[in-house]
Amino acid sequence: MTISKDLPLAERVLKLKRERNAVILVHNYQLGEVQDIADFVGDSLELSQKAAKTEADVIVFCGVHFMAETASILCPDKTVLLPDENAGCPMADMITATQLRQKKKELPKATVVCYVNSTAEVKAESDICCTSANAVKVVESLDNDEILFVPDQYLGHYVSTRTDKKLHLWPGYCATHVRIQPRDIIRLKQEYPQAKAVVHPECRPDVIAVADEVLSTGGMIRYAGREDVSEMIVGTELGIIHRLRKENPGKRFIPVSEQAICPNMKLITLEKVLWSLEEMCPEVKVPEAIRLRAKTAVDRMLAIV
Ligand code: 13P
Ligand code: SF4
Repeated sequence: MTISKDLPLAERVLKLKRERNAVILVHNYQLGEVQDIADFVGDSLELSQKAAKTEADVIVFCGVHFMAETASILCPDKTVLLPDENAGCPMADMITATQLRQKKKELPKATVVCYVNSTAEVKAESDICCTSANAVKVVESLDNDEILFVPDQYLGHYVSTRTDKKLHLWPGYCATHVRIQPRDIIRLKQEYPQAKAVVHPECRPDVIAVADEVLSTGGMIRYAGREDVSEMIVGTELGIIHRLRKENPGKRFIPVSEQAICPNMKLITLEKVLWSLEEMCPEVKVPEAIRLRAKTAVDRMLAIV
């Protein structure tokens, strides 16, 4: 079947998606035009769960590289497409498998908990994965009281305030979330006294200290839907505002910072999604030896959530 070039882009994407038996999974930080053609929009945990269960032959992953890798780890028989191969996550690149192996030698008794924002090679060296939605639960589920947490020091620090376990933190961070400042939240709370300040656990501890809630992006979406919430100060990447406003038309959402933009998330456009489905590339595929070891860490996480 040939798809007419005269049709609007979104319609061409949807037709081709059906032809390829593809599913389009989209992260909450993606551009509105991409969110609007998704089969499912969600946070990292929800998207991995969807990938693990899909019956489609092709997964078009609109997010960043580690997310597409996680889909490939869970679904080796499916074609996983990332519409821009340059959409990486700088935090994931702040630790290599070699560095982690060295650290494990220094801390031989520690259980390694790895944030999903990491490469497949790093996951393969880890005992269990976590996401921002389940990090506390994952750490609490472990028998060991000594944890090596990689690569996000701020998520790790947040978890350490919610558990009695000893956490060793790798000094990684998200360059987008460190742009969120406590003074901006304090000012907005004065301006909007009814508003709840909700921040992502990748934010710095001084930001978390002035927030009302600390939630994953999926947690923020659910929180915004509550009847008792009518105004929300949003401390995370700006892309989430599109979904918050679309799903809650009568409510007010105030971003903490207009600077909190993840340039990698914004590399995926509707045009690139169409092109990716037409050409069936760029494909993300994790080599089998690494995949099997990384899958053990991801499966252990999925078994407890
Ligand atoms: P979520 O899992 O909360 O969607 O976060 C992913 C991410 O990359 C945050 O920067
Ligand atoms: Fe990585 Fe930060 Fe972008 Fe999330 S927002 S993908 S942690 S750089």
